[in-house]
Amino acid sequence: MEQDHKNEREKCKGVGKTVVAAGGNGERHSIHLTVNGHLYELHIAPSHTLAHTLRDTLGLTGTKIGCDYGACAACTVLIDGKAALSCQTLTVKCDGKSITTIEGLEDPKTGKLHPLQQAFIDNTAFQCGFCTPGVTMSAKALLDENPSPTEVDVKQALTGHFCRCISHYQVIKAVMEASRKREVL
Ligand code: FES
Ligand code: FES
Repeated sequence: MEQDHKNEREKCKGVGKTVVAAGGNGERHSIHLTVNGHLYELHIAPSHTLAHTLRDTLGLTGTKIGCDYGACAACTVLIDGKAALSCQTLTVKCDGKSITTIEGLEDPKTGKLHPLQQAFIDNTAFQCGFCTPGVTMSAKALLDENPSPTEVDVKQALTGHFCRCISHYQVIKAVMEASRKREVL
C-alpha cells in the first residue's frame, strides 16, 4: 500500500494536472481538485475523505488527523476559502473546488512563511504538531473574512479546536497581532 502511495506521489511532482488513482480497487469517481494552486485529476473511491486524500494520496501530511470523527478540528483546511473539517468531507464532494492546506500558506516562490505563521512564531503560539496546522488554517479563514476581529471573534473562530495544553492564549495574541499588521490581506 505504501508503495502505491509513493508511486502516486511520484506522479504528482512538478506537473499542473495529474491523474491519481486512490482508495482501493473498487468503484472510482473522477474529479478535479485544485490543491494549493495545483490542479489534480483524481480517480477516487467514494468513501475517501479529504483528509486521507491529502495525506495518503497527495503526500500533504501537514494536515493532521487527530480523532477522524469530527471532534478535534486538527484536520481543518480551507475549501473555497472556508474552514472545513477534512476528516468529515468526502473527497468526491470537492469536485471543482479549491483546497488550501498548511503547505499552501508559504510563498511558493521564496518559501517565506505566511505572515500569520510568522505571527505564531513571534508570539510563541505554535502548539503541538497535531494542533498547529488546523488552528492556523482556521485563523487564516477568519482573517480573510474579517481582517479586524475582536478577541471574541478569534475565540469563536477557534472554538472547535480541542487541545489538552491550554496554550490558546498565545494563539489569540498571534492572531490579533497579525490582524493589526494587516499583512494577511
Ligand atoms: S481529525 Fe478531523 S475533527 Fe478530529
Ligand atoms: S497543542 Fe496539541 S494537544 Fe494541545
